[in-house]
Amino acid sequence: MLALGIETSCDETAAAVVDGDRRIRSSVVASQLEHHRPFGGVVPEVAARAHLELLQGLVRRALEEATLGFDDLDLIAATTGPGLIGGVIVGSTLGKALALARGLPFLAVNHLEGHALSPRLSDDVPFPYLLLLVSGGHCQLLAVEGVGRYRRYGTTIDDAAGEAFDKAAKKLGLGFPGGPAIERAAKAGDPKRHPLPRPMIGRPGSDFSFSGLKTAVAHAADAIGRAPTDQEQADLAASFQESVASSLADRTRNALRRFADEFGPGHTLVVAGGVAANTRLRQVLGDLAAREGVRFIAPPLALCTDNAAMIAWAGIERRRLGQEDGLDVAPRPRWPLDAEAPPAPYAGAKA
Ligand code: KG4
Ligand code: ZN
Repeated sequence: MLALGIETSCDETAAAVVDGDRRIRSSVVASQLEHHRPFGGVVPEVAARAHLELLQGLVRRALEEATLGFDDLDLIAATTGPGLIGGVIVGSTLGKALALARGLPFLAVNHLEGHALSPRLSDDVPFPYLLLLVSGGHCQLLAVEGVGRYRRYGTTIDDAAGEAFDKAAKKLGLGFPGGPAIERAAKAGDPKRHPLPRPMIGRPGSDFSFSGLKTAVAHAADAIGRAPTDQEQADLAASFQESVASSLADRTRNALRRFADEFGPGHTLVVAGGVAANTRLRQVLGDLAAREGVRFIAPPLALCTDNAAMIAWAGIERRRLGQEDGLDVAPRPRWPLDAEAPPAPYAGAKA
């Protein structure tokens, strides 16, 4: 089975060809970083226009690099939400048009499902597993019971983890995107230098919160009273990163115990999404998994940040179950993986 995947939900334009034997035949990603950098964040209108300009060329390149043509494909999968709606419209519309023109099945893929199933593309991971999904827009713990069967154990009551990295980096003058900038700066820093709060640690359940930590970083930076030196930046970055990692690990530990109660011992913990690229987080989660006696999988970096290979793969997984979507399926800015989940515990929470 050969799938073309299309991803346009945020600021990465991407196309990929993946086969049913888990081989990524091609995966091309055009980052729009330079388009958005002057604004210090992703601007939705700028993103939509850039997707429109870049996408057709990327699809062509993905096929060329895979040395395949449209006639070789078995399905077209495109992210149809959640995300910035302009971009989602661009990608899903091209996907539908190609499917219609070539008489191929169209799979409208939930971007979060792409992240959720990505470990099954990189590794041999059977259902069920516990997923920590940490990206710029999402921060959730989910029991992944099968394709399309996700049960939420916890979510953020304010910011997503990646959003916290991005905001803290902006405050520290480290630029955009914040995650990689903080990780780089933290290498030379002392994580114990600033006693920042470690949100939610010790509380029952698996919900997250990062806005208090973000404010604490801002106060610590303001307290310096001038532009921070490189060392001060590094210490704050390291302290912040340590707080986020330990908070994520604490919430994940509670989720692992609940998961073990429900499914028995010895399953797999998986981390996915852009923040899963963070080396310190991978270390802390790896240690946690070892302590709890579960296997730990973190997909390679290129599969953690937004890409189209995971979208093609989600299309393959769904197609194998006989699924297909109509061309009238509507792009969705919000599309929770677990529609049954109660809203996050406090007001102002995100889907
Ligand atoms: O999954 P992703 O590429 O896009 C979304 O779906 O949101 O995640 C992007 C997020 C950004 O907030 C970025 O700062 C964060 O992932 N990120 C990182 C790292 N690399 C990317 N956060 C921490 N450490 C990293 N190395
Ligand atoms: Zn993503």
